[in-house]
Amino acid sequence: MCGIIGYVGNREAEPILVEGLRRLEYRGYDSAGVATLAGPHLHLRKRKGRISDLVQYLRERPAPGCHGISHTRWATHGPASDRNAHPHMSSDGRVAVVHNGVIENYALLKRQLLAEGVAFHSDTDTEIIAQLISRNLDGDLVEAVRKVLPLLKGTYGLAVISPQHPELIVGARLGSPLVVGLGQGEHFLASDAAALLGNTKRAIYLLDHQMCVLSGATCEILDADHVPVSACVQAISQTLNEADRGLFEHYMLKEIYEQPEALENAMRGRLDEEDGSAHFGGLNLDTQQLRRAERFIFTACGTSYHAALVGEHLFEEFARIPVEVEYASEFRYRNPPIERNTIVLALTQSGETADTLAALRESKRKGHPTLALCNVVGSTIAREADGGVYLHAGPEIGVASTKAFSNQVLVLSMLALYLGRMRHLSSIQGTRMVRELRAVPNAMRRALNCHDKVKRIARQYYNVANFLYLGRQYLFPVGLEGALKLKEISYIHAEGYPAAEMKHGPIALVDENTPSVFLISNGGVFEKVMSNLEEIKARGGPVIAIASEGDEETARQVIDRADEVIFVPQVPEYLQPLVMAVPLQLLAYHIALLRDCDVDKPRNLAKSVTVE
Ligand code: AGP
Repeated sequence: MCGIIGYVGNREAEPILVEGLRRLEYRGYDSAGVATLAGPHLHLRKRKGRISDLVQYLRERPAPGCHGISHTRWATHGPASDRNAHPHMSSDGRVAVVHNGVIENYALLKRQLLAEGVAFHSDTDTEIIAQLISRNLDGDLVEAVRKVLPLLKGTYGLAVISPQHPELIVGARLGSPLVVGLGQGEHFLASDAAALLGNTKRAIYLLDHQMCVLSGATCEILDADHVPVSACVQAISQTLNEADRGLFEHYMLKEIYEQPEALENAMRGRLDEEDGSAHFGGLNLDTQQLRRAERFIFTACGTSYHAALVGEHLFEEFARIPVEVEYASEFRYRNPPIERNTIVLALTQSGETADTLAALRESKRKGHPTLALCNVVGSTIAREADGGVYLHAGPEIGVASTKAFSNQVLVLSMLALYLGRMRHLSSIQGTRMVRELRAVPNAMRRALNCHDKVKRIARQYYNVANFLYLGRQYLFPVGLEGALKLKEISYIHAEGYPAAEMKHGPIALVDENTPSVFLISNGGVFEKVMSNLEEIKARGGPVIAIASEGDEETARQVIDRADEVIFVPQVPEYLQPLVMAVPLQLLAYHIALLRDCDVDKPRNLAKSVTVE
């Protein structure tokens, strides 16, 4: 996610700002920039790419001054580019801002300012903040910021400077963390305490609706009514080593744990409980086109293909629209007859997968409306599709996809709700789904509690040569995904199958050295899955069951028959793929660790397969 550093004091700001950004590099980003003040002059330097690209630029054009702000950006609105990098400045050059979060009503605010003749220089939501503060700036920067905050809907962690106040940094927090670092004759502002290490160990963590006003000598914290408050100074507990790695040993583990927050980010501003529906800003297909759609074709690769298979169940259950799921690498050459009112939806984390891009282009060539579910803003597939939905999962660095899978399934759930509500779903059904979706991030947080048990199970099975992953209905694709996770990072051969399919041949594989992971839904096929489990047990196959908490009787049956049981929180059947993916991701992670595999960069694999 994005990173913020601010400094005001008696040392040159540039090296402090750049070093702070480096401490946040592990969070993933696609551009970086600094703005410093030397007297009444504001120096703005920003670049797409890595921090090293920014440093090279600063060697050519230094940013002087003892006061400044800086930012690493992970694109949410507008592609990665020099002009979309932060800091953003108002057109009149009187205000510079860096921002973490999403301003959901930025389009409306931008339209209003454009109508008043304000010139904009970027595609971002953040620039609207700089423009509004400048329009309210009348000799008092704090007052100008205070007036603008109520206009913003969404989340922000902000740092603001102005040449008219060459000694101040103003910060404001709502939904995106900000921490003040206290020094001797200097103060710091950051989105993560890790960025303060090496400069101070004393910090004030801002609360939502609080502001801070910093100069070299002073630090004032203002509450929601903008009344000064005495804030608690805390010691920063992280060590430099932890900060450079983040709190996790690997990106994959960090991204597994980020899933609840990533889901919340995907839902933010898109669900309407009263309306009982979902709203998307970028589908770019009119209601009639969507209502007329007689079929969807989902096309994707790898993990995104597995998410698409879950989406097939979601669309057919809630929108009653037939869906066909195609491997992009096959679809692009198969040339199937496709009915006129068919929409093609591409699913991709990177937005650059060559096969998926080719399948999208082939669909466009034949005149079908195309949509893309993508995590990387401004990526090729996101730009070439007619419309789509960004996953807002944040940067996914680990080669093994985890939070992107979860956010794809969630966005597909929201799309199924949206399409269902324009067809036959009632407002009561819609409202119930909205509440169920909003409860999922906390269910995912509880699902992560299985971590220790999964570690123990991994120690028991990390030396086997083969694994089976079995599930039915919504959980069959999760079985495929669990098998892929294990294969790609531990190099153990693993297969996913519909549980009932085993008796049609694959059960010949079962012996005491071939564990089967059973995904047991508490839905209508529970007894059927348990019969399949018995068939495996009868042939001496070890069984690891992933089952839902809740019903004592079913839990008892699972415990009595499986060798190991991992319980996950009870959620509606259509949401079980999300909570059940968590133990599978952790199982693959810990087995790979025990086999001394490179979890984040597995052999033979790339994060984005941009070749055929
Ligand atoms: C998933 O863990 C793999 N890294 C891989 O299967 C990946 O999902 C596939 O290459 C598709 O990538 P995309 O989502 O970026 O298109």
